Amino acid sequence: MADSSTTHLSPQTAQALRDWTDQFLDPRGGNQPEVAQLLRQVVDLLIEELSRAASTPPVPLEWDEIPSNLLVPAGAVSSEEILKACRSLVRGSMNPAHPRYLGHMDPLPSTGSVIGSLLMAAVNNNMLSREMSPIFSELEQRLSREMAGMFGLPETACGMMQSGGTLCNIQALAVARNHQFREQGIARHGIQSMFGQPVILASDLCHTSIQKAAMLLGLGSDAVIPIPTDEHCRLSPNHLRRAIFECRLKQQLPFAVVGTLGTTVTGSIDPLPELATICEQEDLWFHVDASYGGAVIFSDKYRHLRQGCEQADSITFNPQKWCYVTKACAMVFFRDESVLDHAFRIPAPYMSLNEESGSTNLGEWGVQGTRAPDVAKWWLTLLQFGQSGLGALVDQTLQLTQEFVVRLAERPYLELATRPDLNILCFRDLRNSERPDEYNAALQRQLLEEHQTFFSLPWFRKSRWLKAVLLNPYTTTTDLDSIFEFIDRFQHK
Ligand SMILES: Cc1ncc(COP(=O)(O)O)c(C=O)c1O
Repeated sequence: MADSSTTHLSPQTAQALRDWTDQFLDPRGGNQPEVAQLLRQVVDLLIEELSRAASTPPVPLEWDEIPSNLLVPAGAVSSEEILKACRSLVRGSMNPAHPRYLGHMDPLPSTGSVIGSLLMAAVNNNMLSREMSPIFSELEQRLSREMAGMFGLPETACGMMQSGGTLCNIQALAVARNHQFREQGIARHGIQSMFGQPVILASDLCHTSIQKAAMLLGLGSDAVIPIPTDEHCRLSPNHLRRAIFECRLKQQLPFAVVGTLGTTVTGSIDPLPELATICEQEDLWFHVDASYGGAVIFSDKYRHLRQGCEQADSITFNPQKWCYVTKACAMVFFRDESVLDHAFRIPAPYMSLNEESGSTNLGEWGVQGTRAPDVAKWWLTLLQFGQSGLGALVDQTLQLTQEFVVRLAERPYLELATRPDLNILCFRDLRNSERPDEYNAALQRQLLEEHQTFFSLPWFRKSRWLKAVLLNPYTTTTDLDSIFEFIDRFQHK
């Protein structure tokens, strides 16, 4: 709200001024009631819409068209229009809270992380440097060390957050490359200083971010050598050994192996301890992509699945997936802080508080510069659940996966791609042997359009499969029974 000093202005200028002054919370408290009312109305709208998420489609089939005059409006619109716009956005959104939204690794968000999202937006800090995010930078560094320890890394370890698992993998492999080729000075001189092609070895089911990393590191996406996986979709150590040997014969320069704890399509876990041993013997960097499966660290029953991570040089972990944190929220850990510091850090002279205090500006360590304090969402989620609460969710959703598998096994016309290691599985219907892909695509579509049930439809080993990610704690065995009844009754028209 403009104050009395603006009363001498022309009506048009005064209106334009009101157009912007009302869109901030006045730091002198001038418009507190108006802003508070708008925020409360938005919160009420969200609670109203989202607490009936179980009866709205998991993926909307249609949504409001935003009028052209509102795309870049000529002037400020009213609060009513803002609320209407919010409702349209919610109604046109993917609805991962639906108990039969099973398609992707996108969970319903924890309330703690929604609060954290609001809080971090409201204070608008910047993780680039400590002076721009005092408490958040400290919290992120402390929490990263703590979590690195939960993955079994030693006290020398450190970590940071990045906006998503892709960036974490890119960051880890950039550090790996710079460290493994430090004698050639690759960090400063680039890959033209190399006599040979640096390559990364990863399973043929690794996430595409590994190829993106190779592309961005100037190696080309073909520099990711795909290692065959076994019938359980796990990288085969024997094939890995052979591939390392063959790469060297061809004058290629293997520098890193990526093992995955929870692959994207089938949630499979590579034999991490064996991969770690091979890396040690062959002097290769060992990166674990635990983007999805890292959540097992919270479960007493399933923590052992992270075995091998304690030998990693770097680890990616995405609490935005199985820990129910709003996007983006991802962490990358390094076994040895001094390696990260030497292999990656570019000091920024325009930011203070680094050398003097012995603390790090996270923007110097990471791929990203300006970045939001996602740690707020993660920490508030940890406060809400505690380790035991997150562990209980891991246990519960793994139990639900077993229930799913039991129902699949009762139906000879359904095929499971591979026995699930976690709570992700792929299956397909074999009732049409002539056009199986088309048939399964039609089944997936009908489940969504007629039964509010969403599976995604990945290609896997050259066929279409229905993929289920069973991470919604509100999905019940009754939901599973209904889903299998729909599938039983399905007829391709
Ligand atoms: C195994 C794995 N790694 C990395 C990623 C990339 O994470 P993000 O989408 O947060 O960039 C994914 C995403 O699904 C994944 O499944």
